[in-house]
Amino acid sequence: MSKQDDFFVIKARENGVQVIGLTRGSDTRFHHSEKLDKGEVMIGQFTEHTSAVKIRGKATIQTSHGTLQTDD
Ligand code: TRP
Repeated sequence: MSKQDDFFVIKARENGVQVIGLTRGSDTRFHHSEKLDKGEVMIGQFTEHTSAVKIRGKATIQTSHGTLQTDD
């Protein structure tokens, strides 16, 4: 499966979970911040612009490598 086809799922387990996208390339910085409330789901991909994602708060994250939860 190519990088562009792969996606990840983030489900918020509390209100105010933050999903932060970080830029690809030599300059690594935040470029997007999304707030999810409890039960909300975000489906995302790594792209030409996004190389990493930081998640703050209680969430369940599913990737092609497995499922994990942030610590409570
Ligand atoms: N404009 C961003 C991009 O195309 C949108 C995006 C993609 C994004 N994946 C993300 C934002 C993950 C936050 C987290 O790269």
